[in-house]
Amino acid sequence: MDITEPKAIRPLIPGDRARIEEMWERCSPTSRYSRLHSPCPALPASYLEAVMGNPSGSRVCVDAGRVVGLGSLIAGSEGVADLGVVVEDAWQRHGIGTVLVASLVAGAGARGITVITATVLGSQVHLAQAMRRLPGDCTITSSGPTITAMIRLWSNASPWAEASLRPSVSAVRSSTGSCPEARSSPSGRRRLAPLEYSGPAERLPTSDAQVQRQGVHCP
Ligand SMILES: CC(C)(COP(=O)(O)OP(=O)(O)OC[C@H]1O[C@@H](n2cnc3c(N)ncnc32)[C@H](O)[C@@H]1OP(=O)(O)O)[C@@H](O)C(=O)NCCC(=O)NCCS
Repeated sequence: MDITEPKAIRPLIPGDRARIEEMWERCSPTSRYSRLHSPCPALPASYLEAVMGNPSGSRVCVDAGRVVGLGSLIAGSEGVADLGVVVEDAWQRHGIGTVLVASLVAGAGARGITVITATVLGSQVHLAQAMRRLPGDCTITSSGPTITAMIRLWSNASPWAEASLRPSVSAVRSSTGSCPEARSSPSGRRRLAPLEYSGPAERLPTSDAQVQRQGVHCP
C-alpha cells in the first residue's frame, strides 16, 4: 500500500463489481459487520446489482486500480435515499469516507434526493455525529442496537458539498498523503454538541472463525 500517492474518487464504471468484491474480501469481519449489521462474507448480490445498475448513485475511492472505498446513496421513494459507506481497514481514518459522502451529497439534488437516511451501530456514535455535520436538518433516532440519522437536505446542500470537495494545498501535502480531496475541510464546518447513545451494545465479530460460529444472515 502506498498512501503517498493521490487517490481518485469517481462514480462507478463497468468492471467495478469485481473490484468492489475484492475490496470486501480485504475488509475485516468487524468492518463487514459494521457495514451490513450482519457477518456477511460476501456483499449481497441485490446490493451489488443496485450499485452497478445506477452508477451515478455510488462512488468509489481507487488506489492503483484497486477499489479501497465504496459509498452508495440508493434512492427509494419520495426523494428518500439510503446512505452506506465502507472503506477497507488499511485506509480508514484518512478522510476517504468523508469525501465519498460529500461527493454523493453533491450529486443528490440533481437526482431528486431531498432526504438521506443512514443507520449505524450504537458503537458508532462518531459516525452519527459526522452525519449531523451534513448540510441539512438532522434527526437522530435509536432503535435496539442501531442509530439512524435522517437528514433533510438544505436547498444549498449540493454547492455546500461541492465546496467541501475542492482540494487544498495543505490537503495535497498532508502528512497522511491520502486523497487530495480527502483532507480538504468543508467550508463552514458545523460545531455540534456531543451525541450520546445509551442503547444496547452489540458484540462485533473480530475474526472469520467467530463469524462462522455466529452463522451468516445476509440482508
Ligand atoms: C465508517 C467508515 C466508512 C469511515 O470511513 P473513514 O474513511 O475511516 O472515515 P473518515 O476518515 O472520513 O472519518 C469520518 C469521521 O468519522 C470519524 N471516525 C471514523 N472512524 C472512527 C472511529 N473508529 N472512532 C472515532 N471516530 C471515527 C472521523 O474522525 C471523522 O470525523 P471527524 O471529521 O470529526 O474527524 C469506515 O470506518 C468503515 O468502512 N467502517 C466499516 C463500515 C461501516 O461501519 N460503515 C458505516 C455504516 S454504513
